[in-house]
Amino acid sequence: MTAQTTIRAFFDPGTWTVSYVVADNATGAAAVIDPVLDFDVKSGHTGTRSADQVLAYLKERQLRVEWILETHAHADHLSAARYLQERVGGRIGIGEHIREVQAVFKKLYNLERNFLPDGSQFDHLFKDGETFRIGEVEATALLVPGHTPADMAYLLDGAVFVGDTLFMPDVGTARADFPGGDAHTLYRSIRRLLELPPGTRMFVCHDYPPAGREPVWETTVGEQRRSNIHVHEGVTEEAFVAMRNARDATLDVPMLILPSIQVNVRAGHLPPPDDNGVSYLRIPINALPRQAVPTA
Ligand SMILES: [Fe+2]
Repeated sequence: MTAQTTIRAFFDPGTWTVSYVVADNATGAAAVIDPVLDFDVKSGHTGTRSADQVLAYLKERQLRVEWILETHAHADHLSAARYLQERVGGRIGIGEHIREVQAVFKKLYNLERNFLPDGSQFDHLFKDGETFRIGEVEATALLVPGHTPADMAYLLDGAVFVGDTLFMPDVGTARADFPGGDAHTLYRSIRRLLELPPGTRMFVCHDYPPAGREPVWETTVGEQRRSNIHVHEGVTEEAFVAMRNARDATLDVPMLILPSIQVNVRAGHLPPPDDNGVSYLRIPINALPRQAVPTA
């Protein structure tokens, strides 16, 4: 049961992302999880329609933001963490292994010398098993790598926010072919999540609904064990890895991977502006590792 908190989801139809606000009912303290900054790749314009919905809700409920939590450095949307922080405060947190992700992408994008892959762009780097508070609610950060090396899940009040590890039971699991991703590691992280009590509410970061059903984002640990099409009870690591790798080889590169990651490793800051005051994103030519590029 989630007795202490109120959980509100925000679905972004542009990127199929689900952001959350978790509020402590007793104190009005809140955490925002995985907020989206809209980005139109054709015009190079950012937009705040998604983030402004979150802001309106925070205002309406008179919530006090203590945390802005990222489950990982997303490759499909830009983070609105910085935009939100400038308006409502809160500490931006992510897993400590973000440093490894930053090092890989500093090199890929040839980022400026001043960009240090030390996590200092974030306010807090979570360790595996670290506990923290949202008001009076105790939360635990769990390291669940595999999709990327730095993925975290956040467990609180009988609910777990799993980022891109598992998706809804009829969709399955996240890809493991990004730089630093690994299907074996993902399988072990998923098993760890599935060892939580079966009644634990589980909230996913994306939904890619099959034809005929509306987007949904909440399930339970027990339901995933029974019916997740990729990792239900009885699927071995070997079988999962074979399925995952075969499937990843067919997936297209996310539309916003190159714009997203260079902003998200900066905790949602845009790159420092050029001497004309304009901020530019970098597109490395023929440099993305092969495994993230479809061959067909
Ligand atoms: Fe992701």
